[in-house]
Amino acid sequence: MSDQAKSTFFSGLQQNLDQLRDQGLYKPERVLASRQGSEVVAQDGSTLINMCANNYLGLSGEEWVAKASIEATEKYGYGLSSVRFICGTQTVHKQLEQAISKFLGTEDTILYAAAFDANGGVFEPLFDENDAIISDALNHASIIDGIRLCKAARFRYAHNDMADLEAQLQAAADKRHKVIVTDGVFSMDGTIAQLDKICDLADKYGALVMIDECHASGFMGATGRGTHEHHNVMGRIDIITGTLGKALGGAMGGFTSARKEVIDMLRQKSRPYLFSNTLAPSIAGASLAVLERLSQSTELRDRLHENTAYFRKEIERIGFTIKPGTHPVVPVMLFDAPVAQKFAARMYELGVLLSGFFYPVVPMGQARVRVQLSAAHTRAQLDAVLKAFEQAGTELGLLKK
Ligand SMILES: Cc1ncc(COP(=O)(O)O)c(C=O)c1O
Repeated sequence: MSDQAKSTFFSGLQQNLDQLRDQGLYKPERVLASRQGSEVVAQDGSTLINMCANNYLGLSGEEWVAKASIEATEKYGYGLSSVRFICGTQTVHKQLEQAISKFLGTEDTILYAAAFDANGGVFEPLFDENDAIISDALNHASIIDGIRLCKAARFRYAHNDMADLEAQLQAAADKRHKVIVTDGVFSMDGTIAQLDKICDLADKYGALVMIDECHASGFMGATGRGTHEHHNVMGRIDIITGTLGKALGGAMGGFTSARKEVIDMLRQKSRPYLFSNTLAPSIAGASLAVLERLSQSTELRDRLHENTAYFRKEIERIGFTIKPGTHPVVPVMLFDAPVAQKFAARMYELGVLLSGFFYPVVPMGQARVRVQLSAAHTRAQLDAVLKAFEQAGTELGLLKK
């Protein structure tokens, strides 16, 4: 590359970055100087109540989870320096795959380095140009990317719209196999997919159902199995993908869980599994300990739902508008992008860590701060957060009378 070409390349990147900053779309990283938790210490030394982690069950910074990961490291070592099928599979990986299958009510499970990889590697080995993938318009980016890597015909239905899903199933009628794909829970709004209706439509049109349970595994449903338990359709979902990086411990790692033929084929053909290093034993061991704990007691899941119900009720009482629902993702609607930014900055000054979302991440005019509850939040912390909401809301004139 000539010097001239190089300098055009780098200055072009700089211009694009400047443009992102001008549009308010540049994402700076917040640096923490502490463990993840309901309270964190920022690099500038301020202590903040954290309301924006996917730490639903509060396990990310927990001592017993860290201990389980250290024990697994001591027993199995730091890493494998191998993909799974060469010499990268240990008993702890097989135990974790069995434990996930038992927890979700499936036959078998395959581990990945991330749910992004699970979604990226699930479609291409299972479906080809004779088949149809029918996907919710607001599905996660990793599902969209996974579908792009597959030759199947693509059909998109309007978000959470069962009439449109049925129309797309009819449009795909001549395809050999059809699979409906949806996030179990959509993380921007906390919307829970209508899996009962989706399964009925799947039965009517002979389609498979796949769900992404990243914002559900561990706490949705009566015993935390996920959205399929919440909607009483356990056993009717064909493929489940999920993460170990949110409620189930919070480190990283993902999985696909399904019938054994599906998992067997993924082990043979799924590219992020075949061509990427095995999950670190520390994560596998700690995830196993987490699943054992969650199978014994619903205490954390129950506390999370109590915190969610309390916060949802109180934030509305103060005079904020939220998206209705029951999920621990609570979008507090501020509608206007600069207001959402100003509000999040003021909350930071008041000791609360929150993230603001605005167009194009959410539709125009739907700017918000997204609160995420955790089982680790104490009532005192939630009351302090609500007080800060009231103060910032009053200062900015945002409260409904
Ligand atoms: C719905 C959904 N799917 C997949 C992922 C990717 O998960 P991971 O962090 O394990 O790659 C995320 C994480 O943001 C998610 O929210």
